Amino acid sequence: MIILGIETSCDETALALIETRGQGDTFECRVIQSLVHSQAELHSAYGGVFPALAKREHGKNCIPLLQKLLINSKIPTKNTLNDGQVVQSLEGMRADLQSQNIDLWQSLQQAEFLKNIPAIDRIAVTEGPGLEPTLWVGISFARILGALWNIPITPVNHMEGHIVGSLLESDAPHGNWQKLKSLPVPALALLISGGHTELIQVTEDAPKELHYTILGQTKDDAVGEAFDKAARLLGLPYPGGPHISKLAREAREQNISSSVKLPRPMIKSGTMDFSFSGLKTAILYAVREATRQTIGDGKNSMTDEYKKGLSREIEDAISDTLDAKLRFATEKTQARSIIIGGGVSANALLRERFTVTADEYGIPLFLPSQHISGDNALMIALAAALDTKPYSLPLKAHGTKKLGV
Ligand code: KG4
Ligand code: ZN
Repeated sequence: MIILGIETSCDETALALIETRGQGDTFECRVIQSLVHSQAELHSAYGGVFPALAKREHGKNCIPLLQKLLINSKIPTKNTLNDGQVVQSLEGMRADLQSQNIDLWQSLQQAEFLKNIPAIDRIAVTEGPGLEPTLWVGISFARILGALWNIPITPVNHMEGHIVGSLLESDAPHGNWQKLKSLPVPALALLISGGHTELIQVTEDAPKELHYTILGQTKDDAVGEAFDKAARLLGLPYPGGPHISKLAREAREQNISSSVKLPRPMIKSGTMDFSFSGLKTAILYAVREATRQTIGDGKNSMTDEYKKGLSREIEDAISDTLDAKLRFATEKTQARSIIIGGGVSANALLRERFTVTADEYGIPLFLPSQHISGDNALMIALAAALDTKPYSLPLKAHGTKKLGV
């Protein structure tokens, strides 16, 4: 079966094609192509994702990205539609697009290549959680293609995508057939992204039929949001995680440490919940204090050295907190494996710490490859291919990176 994945839950427009065969224990997949168009640079000026801008950009990107995907993947054409059939199909969706104010209509009409029905068996689209206006672009796009090409659509939960993405052996395009990594259950998934921080128990009801239970989540900011807001306070661009991480690494290499000690929120709460808003407030106070103080030549003390030291302390505070929660949950649930998913899992220090933790407990750790740690459509197509119980996470605004702190 060939599956087209569509992901527009935040600020990445992503499309992917995978091929699958078998089910349960015999399930195998092959990555045909995966494309991600990031809008991060556009949103950088706003210090976070600006939903209306993200929605407009997704509308612009969908058609060109699909054309590129189909050309790159050399998917054969199953059939060709005539002009009348295309017009009729598109007209059926026109009112929908207009009512949602989605900017796809013109590019759809100019996309001659849509006449050729590609040999795709299923369309998988992120239905949530995410930013509602941007989710609708992907959902409408899936519905248009589904109607035009007569292909069924599977809605996918974005967070489930992050879990299953970590079970891929390889995300190489035009790669070989692969089985997913074998997952000892019960497994514990720690999902860390710009919109979520969650601990989820993953069990298996039948071979490879995954079932999810939320054990804990953030009560306020998500961990990626904490990184992004901290970066903003330090005058670093969005998305802030990689910038904080870079400065923290330089601080370690240059032996720079911070005089400020930040809190490790809720590590002794005896629950699997998180809270990062207090950390953000502590960083805000530290930065205010540093900006107020002046050093020798009249400059304030927010020097490069100060920023590096504070970034190191921020990364340490976040990794101590996540690691403490991961250890607590591993013991509490007697987890037999650990899965890490979400954009923050690209963080090198966290990857190291989680590896040590899993080693200490003697259980396997499944990390996503760096390529697919952020949002992508490969994981969405894969989630649609697996037999899973309906994902139990409620739909909610995701990637709620607010303007301001
Ligand atoms: O999963 P993701 O790509 O999008 C959402 O679903 O939100 O996660 C994006 C988040 C951003 O907050 C970004 O700052 C963070 O992942 N991030 C990092 C790193 N790379 C991305 N945080 C810390 N260290 C990194 N290396
Ligand atoms: Zn995500």
